[in-house]
Amino acid sequence: MKMWSGRFRQPLNSEFERWQRSFGFDRRLLRYELAASGAHAAALKSAGVLSANELIGILQGLEQIGKQATGALAFFEDDEAEDVHHFVEKQLVALIGDVGYKLHSGRSRNEQIATDLRLYVRATIDQLREELGELSSSFADRAEQAGGAAIPAYTHLQRAEPVLVGHWLLAYVEMFLRDADRLSDCRKRLNVCPLGSGAVAGATLSLDRSLMADKLGFDAPTANSIDATSDRDFAIEFVQTLSLLALHLSRWAEEMILFSTQEYGFIGLPEAYSTGSSAMPQKKNPDLLELVRGKSGRVVGQATALMVTVKGLPLAYNKDLQESQEPLFDSADTLLRMLPLVTGWMKAAELHLETMQQAAQSGFMNAWAAATYLVNRGVPSRLAHERIGKAVQMCLERNCELHELPLEQLRSLSPAFGEDFYESLTLKSVLAVHDVPGGTAPNRVQQAIGAARKKIESLREEVHAHA
Ligand code: ARG
Repeated sequence: MKMWSGRFRQPLNSEFERWQRSFGFDRRLLRYELAASGAHAAALKSAGVLSANELIGILQGLEQIGKQATGALAFFEDDEAEDVHHFVEKQLVALIGDVGYKLHSGRSRNEQIATDLRLYVRATIDQLREELGELSSSFADRAEQAGGAAIPAYTHLQRAEPVLVGHWLLAYVEMFLRDADRLSDCRKRLNVCPLGSGAVAGATLSLDRSLMADKLGFDAPTANSIDATSDRDFAIEFVQTLSLLALHLSRWAEEMILFSTQEYGFIGLPEAYSTGSSAMPQKKNPDLLELVRGKSGRVVGQATALMVTVKGLPLAYNKDLQESQEPLFDSADTLLRMLPLVTGWMKAAELHLETMQQAAQSGFMNAWAAATYLVNRGVPSRLAHERIGKAVQMCLERNCELHELPLEQLRSLSPAFGEDFYESLTLKSVLAVHDVPGGTAPNRVQQAIGAARKKIESLREEVHAHA
């Protein structure tokens, strides 16, 4: 039976009827639909609409549907179901008879889909945060394993200063932990329960909204029925957060692609995650990285699709909102599938620490440290900068590095240069000079690895507390 055929004299155009259905994609919400229906049934019982026996029958029916859904896919073959809400009603009536039709008393699909989607996003956030913990942890492991090895840090994609490899990798951990944090923030705001909002004005029966919220693990009922049935902010916040995460992964992928070229030679592509060329026998291509970079465009596109869908909608529910589901699912699926692969790649990648280290020792990356040497001897910073610039110029003429300039040459630039200048140019000294919290001095990086691990641990604990 349809959910709304009474006032219609003519049947629907069959093509339109099929076209407007959402069951093809909202069937994945089944378990949330069942949970929300269970909570609604309990409220119906306490409002006196269902007898104790009817409640038991309905709850058992819902449970049965959940069990059947884990079996053969054929269970979902239904030529009539308009959406997951209709599907559950049909199945319930097939299992327990007409009493199944009582479940829809005092509720609307508008509040149901709003509730199901909140439950879906909440569960997906927990999964994604768990994956972000794994990913961050693989980066922290590689940071620790890299020990004292250095790599050039770039600005403008020009060699700027040497940093510890660990310091560089921890930059990504910061991004991922912020993403995890944003997800947690989104989770806090979405965790309120639309049930009892009805179609737009509130339920027509006196349902215990706190009871329903409690049963579903929500913090409270939503405050306004109009907002509750039309709000998709939580979905937008979620896909925007995923867009930013995808951007971070894309930037990472781009850097790995560059660093794996022969021109850099810093990274060896793990074979298990690379492919060959059908034409050029020598090729090993960074496909995983390229797809990570490519799929970020897709995730950003879905966030845009969702925002534009909501943009022109007057309050409250409009069927356009059905179109909010697929972008949401696609963004989440894209990241859920991608994150474990990125973690796997990161564990398997070869870091060519010697090549990195060599690159970190050339190209005048000690110039700022050299200027700092002069500053520490009382030369004003601007002049020190200028003097070292001149020294670099001398080196370029002689095709040498700063430490290869004889002392008398240096003294011709400034009397402040002494024998100990050479000591200040070594990679070790250059790294050590960045001895501030958040800097690349080895003791600071050690502390940062410890701090990152602590944050990852508390992220994991939070996720497990929600499980
Ligand atoms: N399938 C619909 C959706 O996803 C459910 C809500 C339908 N509500 C309505 N008034 N037709 O938005």
